[in-house]
Amino acid sequence: DVEAKVDSVLNIMTLEEKVGQMVQYSGTWDLTGPATGDQNQFREEQLKKGLVGSMLNVLSVEATREAQKMVMENSRIKIPLMFGYDVIHGFKTIFPVPLGETASWDLEAMEETARISALEAAADGVNWTFAPMIDISRDARWGRIMEGAGEDPYLTSRVAEAKVRGYQGEDLSDPASIAATAKHFAGYGFAEAGRDYNTVHVGENELHNTILPPFKAAADAGVATFMNSFNDIDGTPSTGNRILQREILKGNWDWDGFIVSDWASIAEMRDHGYAEDLTHAAEIALKAGSDMDMEGGTYETGLVKLVEEGKLDEQLINDAVRRILRVKFKLGLFEDPYRYSNPEAINKIDKAAHREVARDVAKKSIVLLKNEKNLLPLSSSVKNIAVIGPLADDKNTPIGNWRAQGEANSAVSILEGVRNAAGKNVKITYEKGADLGMGERSFLKPLEINKTDKSGFKAAVEVAKKADLVILALGEDAFQSGEGRSQVNIGLAGVQKELMQEIFKVNKNVVLVLQNGRPLEISWAAENIPAIVVAWQLGTESGNAIADVLFGKYNPSGKLPVSFPRAVGQEPLYYNQKMTGRPTNPTDVTYSAYTDEEKTALYPFGYGLSYTIFKYGDLSLSSKEMTQQGSIKVTVPVTNAGSIAGKEVVQLYLRDLVASTTRPVKELKGFELVQLQPGETKQVTFEITNDLLEFYNAERKWTSEPGKFQVMVGGNSADLKVESFELK
Ligand code: IFM
Repeated sequence: DVEAKVDSVLNIMTLEEKVGQMVQYSGTWDLTGPATGDQNQFREEQLKKGLVGSMLNVLSVEATREAQKMVMENSRIKIPLMFGYDVIHGFKTIFPVPLGETASWDLEAMEETARISALEAAADGVNWTFAPMIDISRDARWGRIMEGAGEDPYLTSRVAEAKVRGYQGEDLSDPASIAATAKHFAGYGFAEAGRDYNTVHVGENELHNTILPPFKAAADAGVATFMNSFNDIDGTPSTGNRILQREILKGNWDWDGFIVSDWASIAEMRDHGYAEDLTHAAEIALKAGSDMDMEGGTYETGLVKLVEEGKLDEQLINDAVRRILRVKFKLGLFEDPYRYSNPEAINKIDKAAHREVARDVAKKSIVLLKNEKNLLPLSSSVKNIAVIGPLADDKNTPIGNWRAQGEANSAVSILEGVRNAAGKNVKITYEKGADLGMGERSFLKPLEINKTDKSGFKAAVEVAKKADLVILALGEDAFQSGEGRSQVNIGLAGVQKELMQEIFKVNKNVVLVLQNGRPLEISWAAENIPAIVVAWQLGTESGNAIADVLFGKYNPSGKLPVSFPRAVGQEPLYYNQKMTGRPTNPTDVTYSAYTDEEKTALYPFGYGLSYTIFKYGDLSLSSKEMTQQGSIKVTVPVTNAGSIAGKEVVQLYLRDLVASTTRPVKELKGFELVQLQPGETKQVTFEITNDLLEFYNAERKWTSEPGKFQVMVGGNSADLKVESFELK
């Protein structure tokens, strides 16, 4: 079995070789030719000595084969390398950014896109992705909100499981499966004020009830690796956090994979003021349970010395290496180190089929926020459409940030999608109107937002005047959200809002199509523009998917996985907040509210319209009481009261009314996608079992507490049918 094999290797390794397995290099040089420069030459020597466990950012069958050969043909014990890469929302075929894809609430689709991503990545030498990111994020200022599944622990947990299943498949040794990573452990999404890498202040209650559940779900689903996070959490950098890594993850959860650091996050403990120097950082990280050092150089230079000086117990190193070897065995790398460097694998890729899936999941991810006067779907009487806006013919933005090998400018733009969908009798005119003014765009380059150039307004207004209807494409540039992309303003950047206002003055039939990686502040649009569609950054087939929805080929079914605020000052904003001691008092200012704005979301979590109308009947409960061993069934009739077929995401929420710690006003605990024909009613039943009532309580136990509960079901978190029951 695997454990015996792992031991057989571990037993013959020298201390130096063991430490080597804990080192990860980035492949910043061309591995297929002679290495140039001292650092690259040194690194190739280390590979040949078997002193490197893994590489990231090495791509292609040829390069991964060359790197693997350096190890397999030169080193003493020949332990194959793992090749990691950020395959976040597709590899070559690009799917919606994770926040957008979560809006589909379609777990099967999410599993399938991960499966395809794995297949494409594996055909290019990659056997390990640094995904899924399952950081709960409730602050739209934080740029990385785009990479996760939003604000809710239950939904994120289900997404985590689906993604792990998709990337890893049934069997990790299948060469179409790659190892997944649950990241970033933990708390990264709670960066104070939404500023990336910033300090995180969360108490134990929030940590266990909100941040950790998706990680527990990923661990239970068998995720091969975890990545820790850059932030400090309540005074301890996560990378050096023994409670998180050794006690909770490897102890209480009994998880047997390995933890990779984030990029130089071990070394950064020096900058945190938590380690004296790199050796000290290595000591802290290893003791805390970080198994592999990504590009930090600390394990490479520090660990052997620390053991020899008696400051570190070699058993800790054995444990880390055992974990790393275990994953390598499970991947089948010892059987065939080159199984991912297979030139034949590319033949299994059906690009056209992958594009079809991309279009399918993209259309399911679109959220319809507003549709006054039934402007959508576009009626056949619309004969003259103006497509306007800086993102209207943008083929790059839909590819999003963290685009892996997704080609720049390769997506179907909105204009192209509309042209493909509109019949010959529809006239389409296009004007850009304004530029996003982002300057040169790339992963690391700061954006320069040009706020002033309105020279394109006149031409845009002219085409708007003559059109029956305007499709106005605004939002965020591909690199405006993502790592290091925190913003204090989350409105439409540059002159976009003014462009919208000018267009609206001359044509009231405006359909605003937003492309965004985070919730945007769109209060003016919500009040004035009759139709609003959130189209995130939807990937390769973006424009076609958007046109499917605009022209009614697909009835929108997406629901927001994050709250959209009325004003940026509400952030962090989330539906599952606590009651507080002063929840409401409309006649007095001394309650928990704002004096200049509503405290509710503009569009709440779970919200999204359809071209049909779904009506919910009253809830019926199989019993008003349950025991911890028992369950209650709650049934709700859902009717399609409109005239076209549609899909509704029926959502179940629970509230624990009195408990040993304060509890959220409601928490998502189930959902079901229900397809209904016009006039059709379906009885949707959820079973409430004890595990749905459990939480981390005042005694630090994950348990349920007897007492009264509310059960709520509906089509979004703010509009729910309510009943109650008691846990005996
Ligand atoms: O996986 C990423 C992580 O999310 C952020 N820092 C770099 C890693 C590797 O690219």
